[in-house]
Amino acid sequence: MKAKKLTGEKAAEYIEAGMIIGLGTGSTAYYAIKKVGEMVRNGLKVKAVPTSKETAKLAAEEGIELVELAEVNSLDLTIDGADEVDPQFNLIKGGGGALLREKIVASATEKLIIVVDESKLVEHLGAFPLPVEITPFSWKYTQRMIEKFSCSSEIRKENGEIFITDNDNYILDCNFGKIKDPVKLTVELNKLPGVVENGIFAEMAEIVVVGYNDGHIEVLEK
Ligand code: A5P
Repeated sequence: MKAKKLTGEKAAEYIEAGMIIGLGTGSTAYYAIKKVGEMVRNGLKVKAVPTSKETAKLAAEEGIELVELAEVNSLDLTIDGADEVDPQFNLIKGGGGALLREKIVASATEKLIIVVDESKLVEHLGAFPLPVEITPFSWKYTQRMIEKFSCSSEIRKENGEIFITDNDNYILDCNFGKIKDPVKLTVELNKLPGVVENGIFAEMAEIVVVGYNDGHIEVLEK
């Protein structure tokens, strides 16, 4: 909790007046959004693109001006969380189910700042099951295609029902084990009909802010 708060708040320091920013999703990005809210109430002028309905709601409650991505074309910086971060700054994201909008916003962003606590740092991606957003149409067929990549997978459920993303899709949580080549896997997965997007964010993050439970933070730059 403390580590997440520290890292979220630290990342907010990169925001400057007039910027167009992306706001991530999850329990760490939450603290960055709360901090941005405080800065806005203290006079900071920014516009923000949210990466989920949940974040849009929180940001609106905080008084942050929201805009559609289509209205702005590109963003100065985005602050978002991650489920795993490897030493090359490749990420697994989507534990919260927002990976599609998160990846679109990240790709439109000049500087992607990732905020994590120390538990998210890994040598290799893959211990955390890779979320893959798939279209509901004939999803079991898509699942079989994905499992040809030597993984097992489970359809994500919430309260016993299939979890529905903000984009009305499903999520498959895929156990690949150690992911040796994240760049290759993300390309291969996205070639499959039925796959909307996958949670590997390869070569996208510029800065990773790591919060440690003892209260210190580390800013890693590419
Ligand atoms: C949301 O879909 C995710 O990509 C989150 O950014 C990721 O799961 C990290 O969330 P936490 O900060 O809550 O761990």
